[in-house]
Amino acid sequence: MITLTHISKRIGGRTLFEEVTMTFNEGCRYGLTGPNGSGKSTLLKILMGLEESTSGHVSLPNRVGYLKQNIEEFKDYLVIDTVIQGNDRLFSALQEREGLYEEEMTDEVGVRLGELEEIIGEEDGYEAETKAEELLRGMGIPEGFFRQKMGTIPQDLQFRVLLCQAIFGSPQALILDEPTNHLDLESIGWLETFLMNYSGTLIVVSHDRHFLNSVATDIADIDYETIIVYPGNYDEMLVSKTAVRERTEAENKTKEKKVSQLREFVSRFGAGTRASQVQSRIKEIERLQPQELKKSNIVRPYIRFYPPEKQSGHIVFKVERVSKAYEGPSVIDHLFFEVLRQDKIALIGNNGLGKSTLLKMLAHVLPQDSGLIETGHGVEIGYFPQNHLDLISKRADMTAFEWLKGCKERVYDQDVRSILGKLLFSGDDAFKPLSALSGGERARLLIGNLMLCNFNTLILDEPDNHLDLEAVSALSWALEEYKGTILFASHNRDLITKTATKILAFEKKKIRLFEGTYEEYLSEKGDAL
Ligand SMILES: Nc1ncnc2c1ncn2[C@@H]1O[C@H](COP(=O)(O)OP(=O)(O)OP(=O)(O)O)[C@@H](O)[C@H]1O
Ligand SMILES: [Mg+2]
Repeated sequence: MITLTHISKRIGGRTLFEEVTMTFNEGCRYGLTGPNGSGKSTLLKILMGLEESTSGHVSLPNRVGYLKQNIEEFKDYLVIDTVIQGNDRLFSALQEREGLYEEEMTDEVGVRLGELEEIIGEEDGYEAETKAEELLRGMGIPEGFFRQKMGTIPQDLQFRVLLCQAIFGSPQALILDEPTNHLDLESIGWLETFLMNYSGTLIVVSHDRHFLNSVATDIADIDYETIIVYPGNYDEMLVSKTAVRERTEAENKTKEKKVSQLREFVSRFGAGTRASQVQSRIKEIERLQPQELKKSNIVRPYIRFYPPEKQSGHIVFKVERVSKAYEGPSVIDHLFFEVLRQDKIALIGNNGLGKSTLLKMLAHVLPQDSGLIETGHGVEIGYFPQNHLDLISKRADMTAFEWLKGCKERVYDQDVRSILGKLLFSGDDAFKPLSALSGGERARLLIGNLMLCNFNTLILDEPDNHLDLEAVSALSWALEEYKGTILFASHNRDLITKTATKILAFEKKKIRLFEGTYEEYLSEKGDAL
């Protein structure tokens, strides 16, 4: 059970929550929802004691699993050890024991070793590696990576290892911030089943409606500066939320009508002889004050990739015999394909099969091991990386405005402000430091770069991760309208169906370019959409 008592949080002049008191019960699976920037991650950090609330307090069970976001922190640890770190007490005991083995065996060392063995026993330490391996396998990490350093395996897999870390050691409560962001459909399925069988308290943030519908028993929705719990899944929440709102609006209308009739009576007879009737009506007016309806924070950004200033040549990329391996198995092997101007190619398939690797090589941020990537004449690439921190972390003190302005030479402040406004960074929001931005806000800012610079080729690695539903639909519209060439990786079926004219399918044993839409691809494979 997790309890919040009178929790308020104000950041930079804005109120995220006001006096929230609530309980997350054991055995329930809460989907924590709300638009980008509404305070979901902040709430989870407050729960974990990583951030302070302005007032109020939180109570938590002893063992809580939390999904970390920062893969950098673990780059020098082995994959398997990173998972075991999910149980702090066990991991420190194991490390201390290893250190003591190196030392001379004195009485003191012996006593300490005994204590450590006890802790390791209590925490199921002798089973730790087997259990960690089981989780890694379930999450689709190849065995060859288990004893590699985190920093040497593909990034999307690193995020999955952190997910294994969060669920390692049967925590009594599990707090997951957007766990499906770096997962393919197969692993999402695995996670769904895992969570359905989980018997502690689960709080999971997600913008993935399908996932929430299958996992959540309750939705805790952040809106109107508070958190309201709706029993049922996400779709049911939307229905009751709209119904509640409509009912209050209707009640307010009736009240307003009544109040205006009463006011009329008061103004007509206020000075006359019917003093007691007037008094009772004045009281009635006070009682009927319409319930204040706070503004909802759901808004849609305006995304548009302006027509490129210069078209590229007819052939945008020519990929010949390209291969790439990390320290383990090779991910891309003798790949051939061509990208033509105005192709809109969706890269689909499970993670770990090399989508991000290929996009990085095309965007010139990662060299291939062998083979040739020819970039066509006049191709100007806008790249949206999967890990936003890659672009932003080194410049954490910069403001959103400074960052975006730095993306293009000789640009007017006003044009930068205008794009920021369209992307919902209005007023002071434009001057927030990068380090303060929420996941969705960071993604919107990266989209801002693509809007500002009139690129004729966009390489987008899961651009819909982190974005709320409104923003994903704005993005989908922009990609549909765009006049240049697009290569994008995504697991979002709607986005792929709407946008893609060709499919680059990463199938188990090969990568192939399918010249047709997603629907046609699926029907060729015999899958229903
Ligand atoms: N130091 C700060 N100064 C100003 N604003 C801040 C600061 N830290 C956080 N914020 C703002 O608080 C709001 C809530 O952020 P949070 O990360 O909790 O949002 P979120 O609901 O998790 O959004 P997302 O869906 O995009 O992940 C955001 O608008 C963010 O910019
Ligand atoms: Mg967040």
